[in-house]
Amino acid sequence: MAAFNHLKNNSSDWLMLRALVLIATISGLLVVMSFSLSKPYIESNKQQAIDKALFELVVNASDKKEFIIAGDKILPASELMQLKQEQSSEAEIKPLYALYNKQEKLISLALQAEASGYQDKIQILYTFDPKCQCIRGIKVLKMAETPGIGDKISSDKDFLQNFIELDTSLNEDWGTLKNKIVSVKHGKKRHLWEIDSISGATISSSAVARMLNQSAQQFVPIIMKHLSFLQSKVLHRKPGQQGKAVLELSHE
Ligand SMILES: Cc1cc2nc3c(=O)[nH]c(=O)nc-3n(C[C@H](O)[C@H](O)[C@H](O)COP(=O)(O)O)c2cc1C
Repeated sequence: MAAFNHLKNNSSDWLMLRALVLIATISGLLVVMSFSLSKPYIESNKQQAIDKALFELVVNASDKKEFIIAGDKILPASELMQLKQEQSSEAEIKPLYALYNKQEKLISLALQAEASGYQDKIQILYTFDPKCQCIRGIKVLKMAETPGIGDKISSDKDFLQNFIELDTSLNEDWGTLKNKIVSVKHGKKRHLWEIDSISGATISSSAVARMLNQSAQQFVPIIMKHLSFLQSKVLHRKPGQQGKAVLELSHE
């Protein structure tokens, strides 16, 4: 307090302090403003990158529809705001993309997955084909793996071959995968659920296996249970509940 009074009595120091507080406040406001202004652009760029990856992965897709997986439900993405308002708990909400061909037939689903790699989090988009219950392709959305070593997970042709038909078929009870997705040493792949690692980049390769296993174990059972809803592309409404989509999810 004595130091504060001393400052107040010394007018030049007091002026300096006030100027510093003002500058700090303005700088803070500018940072917050620029963050809020750039957020929609960042989101839109992210969405564009996802769309590009989706249509590169599923070349014969002509339409995309966005859903969300919330708990064990699948809802149209348009219901997200309402769901957030209704939900008291912070249940995990995950985007799910459904891709349709010209005949409006569901040909693929896609999800994001992530895990820690050699340097930082690796984020990927992967496609799931319900016909074979298998993963059909991956695209790396974000990574900080070492150039020329770990970053090969996005470009190495042999590594990408793993995802032409990576088995994620379910057990009879449709609760879990029949076989855990695992990475194996380069050249040791024997089964469709194994990922042949990149030689010298075992850590990045196993990160891809871990994220796919975790995501597929959790979401393939939910997708398969709600498949006919995703195939129909139609929102079922309960009579009398105008505007509010209530999904009568058909369990196959
Ligand atoms: C500078 C440096 C960067 C590395 N970056 C990666 C990487 O990004 N991803 C990775 O899996 N391994 C990376 N490694 C190699 C790992 O330390 C490890 O040796 C390798 O993943 C093991 O692969 P292997 O079992 O085929 O020999 C890096 C090694 C060094 C020295």
